[in-house]
Amino acid sequence: MTLLIKNIKELLQVRETNVTIVRGDDMKTLPIIKNAYVLIEHDTIIEYGHMDDYSPIEVDEIIDATGKIVLPTWCDSHTHIVYAGDRTQEFVDRINGLSYEAIANRGGGILNSAEKLQNTSEDELYKQASKRLKNSITLGTGAIEIKSGYGLTVDAELKMLRVIKRLKKDFPIKVKPTLLAAHAIPKNYKDNKEGFIDVVVNEMIPKVAKEELAEYIDVFCEKGYFDLKDTERILKAAIAHRLIPKIHVNQFNAFGGVALGVKYNALSVDHLEELNPEDISILKNSNTMPVALPSCSYFLSIPYTPGRDIIDAGLPLALATDYNPGSTPSGNMNFVVASACIKMKLTPEEAINAATINGAYAMGISNLYGSISRGKKANLIITKDIPSYHHLPYAFGDNNIDTVIINGQKF
Ligand code: NIG
Ligand code: FE
Repeated sequence: MTLLIKNIKELLQVRETNVTIVRGDDMKTLPIIKNAYVLIEHDTIIEYGHMDDYSPIEVDEIIDATGKIVLPTWCDSHTHIVYAGDRTQEFVDRINGLSYEAIANRGGGILNSAEKLQNTSEDELYKQASKRLKNSITLGTGAIEIKSGYGLTVDAELKMLRVIKRLKKDFPIKVKPTLLAAHAIPKNYKDNKEGFIDVVVNEMIPKVAKEELAEYIDVFCEKGYFDLKDTERILKAAIAHRLIPKIHVNQFNAFGGVALGVKYNALSVDHLEELNPEDISILKNSNTMPVALPSCSYFLSIPYTPGRDIIDAGLPLALATDYNPGSTPSGNMNFVVASACIKMKLTPEEAINAATINGAYAMGISNLYGSISRGKKANLIITKDIPSYHHLPYAFGDNNIDTVIINGQKF
C-alpha cells in the first residue's frame, strides 16, 4: 500500500531521522518545506520533498492537500485517561470557592476517582477509556502515554494496567503504559503511609513487572502525598524491576523532586508549575525532559510552568495534556499548544517542537515518532485549508484538522 500526499502548502517538522530531541534556541526553528509531498509505504514515511522534485511513481492512493498543512501527529506524553465517571461536582465546588487541596483533604479528588474505579468493571473502564482515546486521536494525537494511579490497591492497579494493555492492542496509535503506583494515600492507610508504600514496593511493583504491564514508574511527589524519601524508595524498587522513572514533581511545591528525578535518570519530570533556578541548573546536566501541562494550569487556575525560562536556559521542553478527571478533563493537544503560546510565551515553532519531537522523546519513542523523517511512522495531521501553521495556536478554539493519518491509514 502506497499513499502520496501532494501539493502540501506547508510540510512541518521535517527532520533528519537521527534528530530525537530539540533543545534551547534550536526549538525556535521548525523546519518547513512549502509546496511539498510526502510518500508513504505501508506504515512508514519513505520520502518527502518539494513538489518540483517529485518524480511520479505508481501509487495506490493520492491525497491532494492543496491549501492544507501537514505535520506529525501530536505526541501526548502524560495522560491518565483510564478513569471511571467524572468529577463534575468537584468542578462546580471549585467554582464556588473550594480549592483543589481542600477537596482532596475532605476525601475527594484522587480518592473519589479511586472509589469509583474500584467499583467499575474492567470492561466498563475499557469502554470509557476507549471513547477518550478515540477522541484524542481525532484531535490529532498519534502516540500517548497512559498512567494507572486511580486503583490504589494491587488489584485495581492491575485492572487499570490491563485496560491500558487492551487499548494498546486495539488502537493503531503507540501506547506507552506507566505504573503510577503512589498517586495518593488510600483511605485505609490514612495513618499508615509506610504500610501502603510497603504494598507498592513488595507487591505492586513486582507483580506489574512480572506481567510486563508497565514500562515506566510514576509517583506523585508532593506535599501531603509522597515526600522525597517515599519517592526515592519507590523509584529504587521500580528501577530494580527495570521500570524507568517519569514522575509528577513541583505541581504545587518545589522541594527537590526535580533533583531526585535527575538522580534516578528519570526520562521526564512533569508539571513544574513551581520551579527554582536550582531545578533548572540540575536539569542542564541531565537527559531528563521537563514536561509542561498548561491545560492543567488553565483548569485549576494555578501558575503556568515557566517554559520560557526553561527554553532560554538552553533546555528542551515537552508539552502534554495531563488528561485526567480532576485537573485536566481534556485531551486536546492543540489547546495545549495554544496555551503554551498564549500563557507561557512560547513561539508557535517552540510549542510545536515541544508537542511533537520532544513529546516523543518523553515517551522514549522519538526514533520513530515526532517528525517527518524517512523511516519514521506515517502518523500525520492534515489540516483544513488554513492560512499558515500559526493558525493552529492562534485560532485556538477551532478544530483545524481535516484528516488524521495513523500508520499510513486514515483514522
Ligand atoms: O497530574 N497531580 C496528580 N495527578 C493528576 C491529577 C489527579 C486528579 O486530580 O485526579 C495531575 O494533575
Ligand atoms: Fe498527571
